[in-house]
Amino acid sequence: MDTVKYLLTEDRMPTSWYNVAADLPSLPPPPLHPATGQPLGPGDLAPLFPMALIMQEVSAERRIDIPDEVRAIYRQWRPTPLFRARRLEAALDTPAKIYYKYEGVSPAGSHKPNTAVAQAYYNKQEGVKRLSTETGAGQWGSSLAFAGALFGLEVEVFMVKVSYNQKPYRRGLMEAYGARVVASPSPATAAGRAILAEHPDSTGSLGIAISEAVEVAAQRDDTKYALGSVLNHVLLHQTVIGEEALAQLEMAGDYPDVVVGCTGGGSNFAGIAFPFIGAKLRGEREVRIVAVEPEACPSLTKGIYAYDYGDTAHLAPMVKMHTLGSTFVPAGIHAGGLRYHGMAPLVSHIHQLGLIEARAEAQLGCFAAGLQFARAEGILPAPEANHAVKAAIDEALRCKQEGKSETILFNLCGHGHFDLQAYMDYQAGRLVDHEYSREEVAMALAGLPSVG
Ligand SMILES: Cc1ncc(COP(=O)(O)O)c(C=O)c1O
Repeated sequence: MDTVKYLLTEDRMPTSWYNVAADLPSLPPPPLHPATGQPLGPGDLAPLFPMALIMQEVSAERRIDIPDEVRAIYRQWRPTPLFRARRLEAALDTPAKIYYKYEGVSPAGSHKPNTAVAQAYYNKQEGVKRLSTETGAGQWGSSLAFAGALFGLEVEVFMVKVSYNQKPYRRGLMEAYGARVVASPSPATAAGRAILAEHPDSTGSLGIAISEAVEVAAQRDDTKYALGSVLNHVLLHQTVIGEEALAQLEMAGDYPDVVVGCTGGGSNFAGIAFPFIGAKLRGEREVRIVAVEPEACPSLTKGIYAYDYGDTAHLAPMVKMHTLGSTFVPAGIHAGGLRYHGMAPLVSHIHQLGLIEARAEAQLGCFAAGLQFARAEGILPAPEANHAVKAAIDEALRCKQEGKSETILFNLCGHGHFDLQAYMDYQAGRLVDHEYSREEVAMALAGLPSVG
């Protein structure tokens, strides 16, 4: 029988997250205080995050136990299936084997609840009452809204205005879970008011929405901030994806030659890739790892590796990362979750170490790949995930050209059921490609902080 889905029973769900820092030859440079430029201590982060998450942020332990309460909630949708894309392979007529890990089965429809549930749990443990956050596409906001509902936490979401208008149903889902959603930039915060004074028509950016959410958390004792990507602890929580995939590929009797993930802030990519990078670093197995980003927000392929602010108003820590500059406002492409100006420090560092490849893809080619995938496999991917689909298809076509039967694994990090307007616009010819030129990159980078 040709197996299509490799399913783990609930008792085989990972009991720990994998911390790649334990296996790296060197660690990323430390985060710096945005006002003083000095390395941050745990105390500096305490107004924003619970101590358990701060300790995970700096942990050097290879494995960190997943609390039982978090595993109990993960069981609502985990372990997620690993599919062998047999129908896509046939459609491409490729000798390659394509597998995809499907994170769209979560309640919010993506990988984001893997960290939302963990973050809500640790905040609840430390007596926090409210969480503030930002969201781009709405995937992260709805994941935190879901997690907040389970733990009885109030959730306030600053949603990038272009997505707020493009995706009213994502907002509806957040509100259904009980969250309050504010279009960003908003008049509710000093950061939002400053942007609106200068650019009344601003469509917003993740950098601005982060400033608003951080400001609210810093000012209120009952509120902490939750971030959906970029930080070490967020990437850590996502490794449950790759850990499961390792076990499922073992069931299939396979091991990938190539692992592919799309990158916004880097969390779903890290989730699928870090466990495989760990095996590579420990000298167990060789593998190529490919990160795919949009041409309209090319932090890894066109940004520079430097200390930069994490947000527009410079309230969040400065981190060393591949960045397009914190003032960068990307074009309103439909992969809203991939529009962050920087890349996770861990992913950036691993890229600097030469352990991963990066490529940028344009919007139209990604939508075409997404439709090709949907017409073969039935699942309509999130526009973000289409970047991984595109690269996986390209790798499979390369295998066909070279007559190689390589094994390709990619992360199908979410479904596109809330993104149908984008698909309709694409099919009606209303979408265009946005390439971000080197000249524009140079202009945005002119505002980088001067850190040695
Ligand atoms: C479906 C989906 N994929 C990818 C991303 C990008 O984030 P990250 O790079 O952290 O996985 C997002 C972010 O909102 C998303 O919603």
